[in-house]
Amino acid sequence: PAPGWAIDADVVVVGSGVAGLTAALRCTAAGLRTVVVTKARLDDGSTRWAQGGIAAALGEGDTPEQHLDDTLVAGAGLCDEVAVRTLVTEGPDAVRRLIATGADFDKDAGGAIALTREGGHHRRRIAHAGGDATGAEISRALVEAIRDRGVRTIEHALVLDLLTDAEGRTAGVTLHVMGEGQHDGVGAVHAPAVVLATGGMGQVFSATTNPSVSTGDGVALALRAGAEVSDLEFVQFHPTVLFLGADSEGQQPLVSEAVRGEGAHLVDAAGTRFMVGQHELAELAPRDIVAKAITRRMLEQGTQHMYLDARHFGAEMWEQRFPTILAACRSHGIDPVTEPVPVAPAAHYASGGVRTDLHGRTTVPGLYACGEVACTGVHGANRLASNSLLEGLVFAERIAEDIAATAARAGEAVPHPAPVTLPLPDPGARVRIQRIMTAGAGVLRSAESLAAAAEALDGLHADAVAAADDDRKAAEPGVESWETTNLLCVARVLVAAARRREETRGCHWREDHPDRDDTGWRRHLVVSLTPDRA
Ligand code: SIN
Repeated sequence: PAPGWAIDADVVVVGSGVAGLTAALRCTAAGLRTVVVTKARLDDGSTRWAQGGIAAALGEGDTPEQHLDDTLVAGAGLCDEVAVRTLVTEGPDAVRRLIATGADFDKDAGGAIALTREGGHHRRRIAHAGGDATGAEISRALVEAIRDRGVRTIEHALVLDLLTDAEGRTAGVTLHVMGEGQHDGVGAVHAPAVVLATGGMGQVFSATTNPSVSTGDGVALALRAGAEVSDLEFVQFHPTVLFLGADSEGQQPLVSEAVRGEGAHLVDAAGTRFMVGQHELAELAPRDIVAKAITRRMLEQGTQHMYLDARHFGAEMWEQRFPTILAACRSHGIDPVTEPVPVAPAAHYASGGVRTDLHGRTTVPGLYACGEVACTGVHGANRLASNSLLEGLVFAERIAEDIAATAARAGEAVPHPAPVTLPLPDPGARVRIQRIMTAGAGVLRSAESLAAAAEALDGLHADAVAAADDDRKAAEPGVESWETTNLLCVARVLVAAARRREETRGCHWREDHPDRDDTGWRRHLVVSLTPDRA
């Protein structure tokens, strides 16, 4: 659809989590005319749901070098060491700047930032706020700063496609906006720099910790624009998500790793601690190892969940340290003070995404990516717990510096030949995609399961293409149908990558190739599509 309205800016930031809002604040501070567009409200993304915290070498005796070592081990041989070094050395000051922006972190008795542990960290290194409401506090502080500084924002704006000029440089984005007065319907923000900070794609699976807005929009846009995307096969499954029943779909309540960091035990129905002896860090092993151990135990015992036992914390500690999790459990009739909490793995984080360099630049000039949508190289095959908020902060700042330094200028925008984005006509397609992905490309994968998923997804794609050629069947363009298009786009690429990677590494687990293969597979799968393939 042709844009019905257009506004001009120097930078358009798409998304409003820690990465997007940090980039917008820094761009504004550099004097750039900045517009933030976001699909729901400013605080509706994944950041608000982050519990455990933000990792940085802030504690006495801790160093960026030790943080680097833990990150590289978790990443299972695929981290970009230079990117990790950038993250861990710039991280502590970036957190201090976040505090200066207004985020209020929990303090210890001596007034220093209180630090906890999570899986894969050999030290207490995780700063937290409100006990287990770290993301909510970060989001509150950044949204307040955005409003205080008068940064222009457009909410309820689903990004559709990248606009480019005649030389193929970024020239803005098209958007579908609802209920925002003069900017209703399909419009465009023209800008020579676009920062994708759209978050993840957890909604591609049936059960996820991600909110409903996490539909892979940024990766899908980047693919349609011809940008390179990397490592999509590495989907992290969080080991301990509150188990609400096998048929519970959509966003599920997280039970933070910090609960294990403070001493909770993973047990089976008989009360046996099964992580002891499996890894030197037991319950605090890196996330992929814990998720696999839980899944294995579930398969062996024919059950659908394990338990997290933290009754020994007592009521006071639960109330003070983990109020959000306590309330979530109690609202589902489970009292962690008196009973073990049923938990199972669920989709949590996309370690891959739109490929960037150390300044957040993608392979399309003027297009940047940061936060979960990006693949900066810091996560490798498995992200270390609580490195994601830090990545959003550090790389958003670097992006703002790069945009301010290059002061890019685009030529006149040349809209993509329509229709690049085909709204999916079938209202049931989203749930079908989620079930196909969960069955075929979930925690446990095999050539067979992935082939079945690929075939089913190809069928949905063929239906969409056929419907687009037939006016009577064409879908009503709208957020729902476009989101489903994006889910299908990223699902197909994810499955293709997972089929290619014939080994088990990090959070990619192939039953038919159970070992890590450093000879053949210590490399990345990078994908870029021509627009008609997306
Ligand atoms: C958690 O609190 O367990 C989530 C932390 C993360 O995903 O980094």
